[in-house]
Amino acid sequence: MPSGVQAEIKTYQMFIDGEWVRSKTNKTFPVYDPSTEEVIAQVPDANAEDVNRAVAAARAAFDEGPWGTSTAQERGRVLFRLAEKVRQNVALLAELECRNTGKPIVEAEFDINDVATCFEYYGGLATKVVGYVNPVPDNAMSLSLKEPVGVAGQIIPWNYPLLMGAWKLAPALAAGCTCVLKPAEQTPLTALEMAKWFDEVGLPKGVVNVITGFGESCGSPLVKHPDVDKIAFTGSAAVGKIIVKEAADTVKRVTLELGGKSPNIFFADADFEAAIDGALFGVFINQGEVCSAGSRILVQNSIYKKFVEAMTEKAKKIKLGPPLDRETKMGALVSKEQYERVLGYLDIGKKEAKVASGGGRAEKFAKGYYVQPTIFYDVDNSARIAREEIFGPVAAVIPFDDEKDALKIANDSPYGLAAAVWTRDIFKAMRTVKSLRAGIVWVNHMQPTYVEAPWGGYKQSGFGRELGPWGIEEYLETKQVYINLNEAPIGWY
Ligand code: NAI
Ligand code: MG
Repeated sequence: MPSGVQAEIKTYQMFIDGEWVRSKTNKTFPVYDPSTEEVIAQVPDANAEDVNRAVAAARAAFDEGPWGTSTAQERGRVLFRLAEKVRQNVALLAELECRNTGKPIVEAEFDINDVATCFEYYGGLATKVVGYVNPVPDNAMSLSLKEPVGVAGQIIPWNYPLLMGAWKLAPALAAGCTCVLKPAEQTPLTALEMAKWFDEVGLPKGVVNVITGFGESCGSPLVKHPDVDKIAFTGSAAVGKIIVKEAADTVKRVTLELGGKSPNIFFADADFEAAIDGALFGVFINQGEVCSAGSRILVQNSIYKKFVEAMTEKAKKIKLGPPLDRETKMGALVSKEQYERVLGYLDIGKKEAKVASGGGRAEKFAKGYYVQPTIFYDVDNSARIAREEIFGPVAAVIPFDDEKDALKIANDSPYGLAAAVWTRDIFKAMRTVKSLRAGIVWVNHMQPTYVEAPWGGYKQSGFGRELGPWGIEEYLETKQVYINLNEAPIGWY
């Protein structure tokens, strides 16, 4: 057993109002290692009553606690200390993330380092939030002030568990909000581990509460709660739509990051070797469980056949293996549910298109939710495997004739999170960038993501932006202040 994580099944409590607590019902649910299918932990099964407790703590911490009157400098320092704690514990957190998600350990280490970077970035940004003096035409002063939105409910997915937590906690805390974080039921462990340091780094009680539970019984009561001011959600489009409806009754601020079916476009003049590499990286990194996965691979006709062949040859060599093995390039899918979902799409794909490689479970493993990297080709853009987010190692290769054709296919999707284009022609690249309806566009690469740059989607990929200064804006209200500089009466009546 590698260092840091205990082999026995650990029972966790959740973190509410600075205390470790059970659910009110005392119920727990199991958390798995998807590469062995074994239970590795039990966590509290929180329901509406527990949500109420967490929201009350966050509300009190915002309205009455020291966080509400803290300075930006103080909040920044707390975030730097949290970042430092995470950096000191990369090995422990990465191993836990790796075991719980099934992702390769090397990728988990990248993720945890990114978590620390995110806390550092927003630690610095906390003191850069400024207001304005508005140039009103009267003898008055008009100010616009930035203030925290209040209590934030944050519902996150399982593909990058702690990193998605950091993307939401860091800007919220920098802004001065208090938080109720609900990790995905499949992957709550790293958020609970991190909560152990909250007190030590100087987060007053109730400022961040971590509750563990399922979508309908725990996520939904958080969305509906009248004392929650904002919901930040990353997950499926189906749940995003429910959240918008449920948040409407209390007119909550909502931001949604809902994934996509992102096109990765290859023109004939692209560097061929780099293109093949980029196509595989774009769709198979993190087992394809990536919201911005380049799952539609659009290839120009003149290189199409050679491209599919080269991609297939390389895909067959991708090293699937146990997540904790440092040589592993692809691990197990996160859960039985997701595994079955992906296998279901493989069956659908076999009826809709041709299989170049993969197409089923990776049988060399006796246990675990391992799926072969799968390439479908001759896919029509109207096929289900080209329209629906699969969230697994499944590529749909689609041929196109020319630039116009490529753009038409690329934009013909209900989603608009990301896109990439590969060409050596700068004019073609820039025309394509301009015409793509997507929130993130890469040229001659796919997937690099930086905390300094905005992240979010067009169309049904959601609304609002995370990361960078855009990320903190979503946790701020704008208050307009008018100061009369005339001492005389208004003189109207
Ligand atoms: P999901 O959208 O059901 O779960 C994401 C989070 O939302 C979890 O924390 C879950 O507990 C919570 N949730 C679920 N129902 C809720 C409700 N009614 N109210 C409030 N919160 C709720 O995603 P799931 O079922 O795990 O995966 C299904 C598909 O969703 C995947 O195959 C993938 O296509 C997509 N997905 C997209 C992600 C992204 O990064 N955009 C991340 C995870 C999943
Ligand atoms: Mg779901």
